[in-house]
Amino acid sequence: MPHTTAAASGSRPGRTGTRGTTALLGSPLERREGRDKVTGAARYAAEHHPPARAYAWPVPAAVSRGRVLAVDDRAALDQPGVLAVLTPATAPRLGDAGDPTLSVLQDERVPHYGWYVALVVAETLEAARAGAAAVHVDYDTEPHDVTLTVDHPDGYLPETANGGHPGLRERGEPDAAFAAAPVRLDAAYRVPPEHNHPMEPHAATAEWHGDRLTVHDSSQGSTAVATALAALFELPEDHVTAVSEHVGGGFGSKGTPRPHVVLAAMAARHVGRPVTLALPRRQMPAVVGHRAETLHRVRLGADDGGRLTSVIHEITTYTSRVKEFVEQAAVPARVMYASGHSRTEHRAVPLDVPTPSWMRAPGEAPGMFALETAMDELAGTLDMDPVELRVRNEPDREPDTGRPFSSRNLVACLREGAERFGWAGRPARPGHDRRGADLVGTGVAASLYPVYQMPSRAGAHAHPDGTYTVRTNAADIGTGARTVLSQVAADALGVPLAAVRMEIGSSALPAASVAGGSSGTSSWGAAVHAACTALVARLKEHTGPLPAEGIGAEADTAETVGREADWARDAFGAHFAEVHVDTDSGEVRVRRQLGVFAAGHILNPRTARSQFIGAMTMGLGMALMEGSTMEPVFGDFTEKDLAAYHLPVHADVTDIEAHWIDEDDEHLNPMGSKGIGEIGIVGAAAAIGNAVHHATGVRFRELPLTPDRILNGLARHAGVPA
Ligand code: MOS
Repeated sequence: MPHTTAAASGSRPGRTGTRGTTALLGSPLERREGRDKVTGAARYAAEHHPPARAYAWPVPAAVSRGRVLAVDDRAALDQPGVLAVLTPATAPRLGDAGDPTLSVLQDERVPHYGWYVALVVAETLEAARAGAAAVHVDYDTEPHDVTLTVDHPDGYLPETANGGHPGLRERGEPDAAFAAAPVRLDAAYRVPPEHNHPMEPHAATAEWHGDRLTVHDSSQGSTAVATALAALFELPEDHVTAVSEHVGGGFGSKGTPRPHVVLAAMAARHVGRPVTLALPRRQMPAVVGHRAETLHRVRLGADDGGRLTSVIHEITTYTSRVKEFVEQAAVPARVMYASGHSRTEHRAVPLDVPTPSWMRAPGEAPGMFALETAMDELAGTLDMDPVELRVRNEPDREPDTGRPFSSRNLVACLREGAERFGWAGRPARPGHDRRGADLVGTGVAASLYPVYQMPSRAGAHAHPDGTYTVRTNAADIGTGARTVLSQVAADALGVPLAAVRMEIGSSALPAASVAGGSSGTSSWGAAVHAACTALVARLKEHTGPLPAEGIGAEADTAETVGREADWARDAFGAHFAEVHVDTDSGEVRVRRQLGVFAAGHILNPRTARSQFIGAMTMGLGMALMEGSTMEPVFGDFTEKDLAAYHLPVHADVTDIEAHWIDEDDEHLNPMGSKGIGEIGIVGAAAAIGNAVHHATGVRFRELPLTPDRILNGLARHAGVPA
């Protein structure tokens, strides 16, 4: 990235000194493990090599529905170095971990393409891979259905979507209000399946000592991994240790235990040796979750002044036949804008597809592409500036519940973003800024992400030498969590950062919640703060030198989490983008991306900026490149590796800025922070799509905006047969 800038905006006073005794909270500290990572000293899950380690390679199903009739492993076992082949007939029986995607090799059923049907264990990675290629599987195949349609006969209304969001919410009489509205927008949008594809593939190294199991797993939450393995292998929980010291990204796909860690543990037990299993990238789309396709219909009714009278957002998505997961893409419309009447509804269609799951801002990312594109379309119909349309519909309470917002600075983000971006004077009419073969345009979209907090535990210990150890099973998936938690601890203890040793990333530490839902800092930080505060109190009571073993304190936030339910708590933001659309090639270049976010108190500007611009870049990928095709004949994704599934690279990011408005919100946690991991992607694709419309005068309602779609759209617009 040739030019990037970031700054903490000075438009509101910061919180310096209001909570802590030091200026640590809010300092742009470097990652504490940065040196280990750049020198290669940091070990990832597949890089632990206990003596006599063997390797495993799974065999994915080559049909998308049916049964395994027979697995012929003779040719595989004849390969040099192959130690064993596990099949549904020979693999050990597992207990129930409450997650059917983990019940690997337990029966002959094939519920989707890529479901595992065998596992080869060998002396080397190469031998395991060759062995897997030599396994011959016979199937009894059945007709499959992998195609999502809005009117699919199996569609149903789920009670809840993605854990706890009501499948349907209705307020007032949205259909009648829409019909009566003088200004109406009724449009359909589509977001294709998308894959998380973290840089580090899912990997685990498993080792048994008698009936004790240790795994190094690439996970966003190793407490849950240990719990699941204990259930599956029917062990006491304290016999399983799951370690996730360093994690090379996850974006939600490592937020729950995945089959690779189960297979690694199974293989290690079977051959009596440590086993490493690192998923080949091409297998990941079928077994680590993905963002399901969403089909949207958005209806907005407004009065002549642009005030929304009715907001109807209906989405249709698929789930697998293994486990229900419903992308809650209609949920953001419950929070964003004031309107007299509203319906937000999900329909789920069970198909013979891999089980979808969390991918960065599940629900919000696709939902806000649709809603924020619709708002742009409505602004055009009203001949109103899209920033002003949003400001005009700012609610004073959460529309669906009437709860007050603990803080809501969407308007401030829009205003500050417009100022910094140079929005004033933007040509109102689209399609009129031509520079050679390029059409140039700008766009805006709003962003939001809810504040989640989950129960966690932490321990803090004062040593006689004046240093401290603080422990909680947080996961640092590249976010800077280890560093920020050290800041929280040092701040609460009132000591320099160097005096604090932060231990995270092992289920042997006090149990903590997943690095998901942008909740990590809030959840773990609250526990760390409580443990450190308790330790300070104990130290105050203590007189004389510390005992040889020091003094410790522990905390568990289970009872305090959820107390603020009377408040609607969300982070908000605004995205601005400038695009150049090449009318010859159809390529879209994002020349500028600027985001302003209001996410509570920003605890570390350096790592926060990295979170924001990383997610904005992922939003650029969502807008222009990312998308996967569920091929109907074979029933498999066609874009399974990074040669086919395109992601943005440095050359795609010309100029990216993240700014923030520091909020002073008493209803969050002791640090005053909201989550920042996901809000940067929410709305980013809509801002870019809206800029493409402004550049070309053509509205694209289906992602990604690939050159073929752009050229076809331009041709249609010009009346030329495409
Ligand atoms: Mo994030 S998709 O909640 O890991």
